[in-house]
Amino acid sequence: MAHTLTENAPLAARTTFRVPAHAAWLAEVRDAGAMPEVLALPQAAPGVLVLGEGSNILFTRDFDGLVVHPDIRGIEVLADGAVRAGAAENWHAFVRWTLARGYAGLENLALIPGTVGAAPIQNIGAYGTELEEFVSAVHAYDRVARAQCELSRDACAFSYRDSVFKQQRDRYIVTAVEFRLPRERAPVLDYAGVRDELAAMGVAAPSPTDVADAVERLRRRKLPDPAEVGNAGSFFKNPVVAAEAAERLAAAFPEMPMWNGKLSAAWLLEQCGFKGARDGDAGFSERHALVLVNHGSATGAQLWALAQRAQAEVKQKFGVQLEPEPRVI
Ligand code: EPU
Repeated sequence: MAHTLTENAPLAARTTFRVPAHAAWLAEVRDAGAMPEVLALPQAAPGVLVLGEGSNILFTRDFDGLVVHPDIRGIEVLADGAVRAGAAENWHAFVRWTLARGYAGLENLALIPGTVGAAPIQNIGAYGTELEEFVSAVHAYDRVARAQCELSRDACAFSYRDSVFKQQRDRYIVTAVEFRLPRERAPVLDYAGVRDELAAMGVAAPSPTDVADAVERLRRRKLPDPAEVGNAGSFFKNPVVAAEAAERLAAAFPEMPMWNGKLSAAWLLEQCGFKGARDGDAGFSERHALVLVNHGSATGAQLWALAQRAQAEVKQKFGVQLEPEPRVI
């Protein structure tokens, strides 16, 4: 069977927030060719939701349709030199796979939770690198055309934590991603902390693997580990404001961090007292104000209530609207 079907499937262990929720139906699909058949199931009629490793989603309720888990694996180097990975491959393991084979490019994106298939959806980025730089094509099942398709990098319409896959949420199911990775790349070290970390490691001329090691050390220290405390990384995007708003804010709050019209959501939250704040088991990490955390038995609704309270207070104090980065159901 290219797919398996489970009724009333528990989702807590399938998301990194680990909040209780159930899917009326869950389909695990091991072959992209089985997508049409799975999506035509009557269980899909109330709605379909695609779930990878669940590291960028918050369930505030049960899902009464069909959750599809594309369990498509495999990494290969194609004849044209591109590296292709199945949607279900773990992102960090894939980054390490490329580095071990002498490819550069993905080193600053080490240790980001989630799957390869999820990476293009929010155009993951960290420590000075955005995914879009290295994606050459995305393979997906197009639910509108009812056919497997290949999107060029331009067709993916990448921007900060955004893509066509997020814009047309119910259209594409990513099945594989292709990357063009250079053999050599000038190391990207300008993001705060990277150089210091390499210096602390005693590395003067870093290889891509050294950069990945440094990023891994930084992330382990700065961000709560989803294996230990439920979270989905940054809960809000860094807000981008218009020039007049940036000027008004810089005048009123001279110490506010600001770069390319972007503000630091973490800083805004910390100013409103949310860093380390808790309401029962729902909280914001004491390590990083931007990370909403489940200290144990918080429900998705409790986490979302706290997040909305933070949104309202930031809006009131700074006049800035924070937008959630993960998908909220
Ligand atoms: N800051 C605070 N308080 C905090 C943490 C940070 O005020 O508790 C301020 C500091 O001024 C700091 C600035 O925020 O200099 C930026 O912090 P950081 O370097 O941690 O980056 P970020 O903007 O909060 C973004 C990404 C992260 C990514 C890091 C590193 C977004 C929404 N988040 O966070 O990505 O790891 O940069 O590149 O763009 C994610 O998307 O899930 C994620 C973790």
